Amino acid sequence: MLKALQGHVASPPPIWLMRQAGRYLLEYREVRSGVASFLDLCLTPMLAAEVTLQPLRRFPFDAAIVFSDILIVPHALGQKVAFVQGEGPKLEPIRDGAGIAKLDASSAASLLAPIYETVERVTAQLPASVPLIGFCGAPWTVATYMVEGSGSKDQAEARKFAYREPETFQGLIDLLVETSVAYLLSQVKAGVRVLQIFDSWSGSLPEDAFARWCIEPTRMIVKRVKAEAPDVPIIGFPRGSGPLAERYAMETGVDAIGCDTSLPIDWVRAHLQTKLPVQGNLDPVLLAVGGEALDVRVRTILASLGQGPFIFNLGHGILPETPIEHVERLIALVKAGPA
Ligand code: CP3
Repeated sequence: MLKALQGHVASPPPIWLMRQAGRYLLEYREVRSGVASFLDLCLTPMLAAEVTLQPLRRFPFDAAIVFSDILIVPHALGQKVAFVQGEGPKLEPIRDGAGIAKLDASSAASLLAPIYETVERVTAQLPASVPLIGFCGAPWTVATYMVEGSGSKDQAEARKFAYREPETFQGLIDLLVETSVAYLLSQVKAGVRVLQIFDSWSGSLPEDAFARWCIEPTRMIVKRVKAEAPDVPIIGFPRGSGPLAERYAMETGVDAIGCDTSLPIDWVRAHLQTKLPVQGNLDPVLLAVGGEALDVRVRTILASLGQGPFIFNLGHGILPETPIEHVERLIALVKAGPA
């Protein structure tokens, strides 16, 4: 994993899956059913460490990822965040400057401390060959949830805010940059060896807004994290950004780029992998369905992207209905290398 992130071609390539700890695992559902809320699970280091390690006990993944959520940052800034079963996250929406002014970063470090304890517990148990990935949401994506108050189809409220009052919205983005830099550096201090920045909703912005709200804040985070932790590779994941992924790859300073399922692999090879290592991009729905079509697609991805620096992953998080056997099959195919 670390070699691939440095630009080496590894054969077979390393593999891990976004959301690899989660509801498709019986043992996760067991731990989850014993706590009142998803947030409690994220903030209880013993349990969060346990679910982080669960997928590694079943599968020979090449990395672990800290069990938490990108919305832990708004929680740490004092915004009310709840995860409602079957409905996803619910936040008290912020629609104006007064809402932003109420956010309070002064307790962020102590509210995030349980995450760092999870990192310490996990790294104490992982073999040296399996790095732990720390993460945060990108400021734009986290801001969409903070403004909308929930997940949304089109992030329209956040876009309206950014278009109508760019200077006010900039204040929220700047606060998220500050908080995210401290959050990522503290994860590094606690033991993570790779970082990923999830920009799940970068695909909802046109190019000038993409430059201001996705590229620029990410560039700031990367620059400031690298100033203190130059050896920790950073993977950027600008989901849905299409051809703008190329600008993102060149301008943010990330070490590697996560590719969603919609990016054509030959385009990824020509436009992204010539510049930096790439990660992705199997359709999580195909992994849930399995069968011959899964085998064919995995081999196609390996044949194309496996020739350069590459980390096998999904194009988005694994689905809760995914059968364990399909994950086993996927790993066997990847470890066997291109046909
Ligand atoms: O990858 C991992 O295994 C690490 C853990 C992780 C979670 N969320 C756990 C989680 C990571 C890296 C995330 C990131 C995250 N969270 C993103 C960015 C990546 C992406 O998916 O686009 C986003 C947008 C969120 C916000 C979020 N959290 C939503 C929209 C939801 C509800 C939808 C859902 O899948 O349930 C969550 C909840 C959540 N985060 C769960 C998990 C395992 C499910 C909670 C449960 O068990 O009930």
